[in-house]
Amino acid sequence: MGLKFVKAGHYNSKNAVKNSFFESYLDTSDEWIVQRTGIETRYWEDSDVKDMSVESVKKLNLTSGEIEKVKVIIVATLSQDYIMPSISSIIQREFQFGEDVFALDINMACTGFVGGAIVAHQMLREGEYALIVGAEKLSKLVDKGDRSTVMLFGDGAGAVLFEKNLKPFYYDNGTMGSDDLKLLRGDDEKIYMHGQNIYKFALDIVPKSLKNILEKSSTKPEEIDYFVLHQANLRIIKAVSKKIGGLEKYYTNLQRYGNTSSASVPICLGEMYEKEMFREGQKMLLFGFGGGLTFAGAIVDV
Ligand code: ACO
Repeated sequence: MGLKFVKAGHYNSKNAVKNSFFESYLDTSDEWIVQRTGIETRYWEDSDVKDMSVESVKKLNLTSGEIEKVKVIIVATLSQDYIMPSISSIIQREFQFGEDVFALDINMACTGFVGGAIVAHQMLREGEYALIVGAEKLSKLVDKGDRSTVMLFGDGAGAVLFEKNLKPFYYDNGTMGSDDLKLLRGDDEKIYMHGQNIYKFALDIVPKSLKNILEKSSTKPEEIDYFVLHQANLRIIKAVSKKIGGLEKYYTNLQRYGNTSSASVPICLGEMYEKEMFREGQKMLLFGFGGGLTFAGAIVDV
């Protein structure tokens, strides 16, 4: 059985930080950042991960019928303020989801949202709904003095409602244990990243895995209406689209948001929903990759 997209919403980001901010205190330039990453602004928010998650769910305007159908709530994040209760439990109470809901928070870094959708798929029965949220406050975890990472990461949240349908489900995933991306708990929590290794990993794995999903499902790239990839670097997305085709079908917003880890795919879906880009019968390929190193992708019906 497959997964069908029902609706999406995203937290209304407020505090945009332009590239020129970094020019003010680091040896960097707007030109370098735009050329190497595509990023022009990112949001650094005052709100915490829980509040951004709750606001993104509010944006869904869930009906009581939809709330009743939700049997799984997953919040994907690596920057949560709440270890306990989980943010997914807080959401259960806040929106009065049923007590039979399976609620869990997961950390698969930037793969978390798509990974969460794949996990939820295994737990649902036909016609049931899963609420998957991706939310991050990476601004509190970046080393503000490190020019090679500080400009990449931003904050945000997105929430998506999926339904399990009767169609086949095609997905791919993998893990290659590595500490090229690392974040340790403690007084000095900072994201450490070996950028070039991650870049090479992405350029190798993402097209291979996308091809794998397309082959498994006997789908031609032109039959996919939208490719929604983790928003890490515009160069990565462009290079992937060259290998798979159809650059115009790759939705991007990293120019405005930077890399929001597990929030990046659901924020894209929230914006696309707001722009009324979805039509019944369309197909999307969602793909996440990052810390772990991990990757996961799946075809979702609209
Ligand atoms: N401004 C100016 N110069 C810079 C900056 C900056 N902000 N950052 C690095 N440089 C310098 C480096 O010091 C280096 O200088 P050197 O040649 O004198 O040593 C030079 O620019 C080139 O650095 P590279 O690291 O080779 O630059 P690259 O083109 O690889 O771009 C980047 C770096 C943007 C980080 C790229 O490697 C990348 O996008 N990697 C993937 C990152 C990623 O996807 N991360 C997240 C995935 S998962 C997750 O999100 C948790």
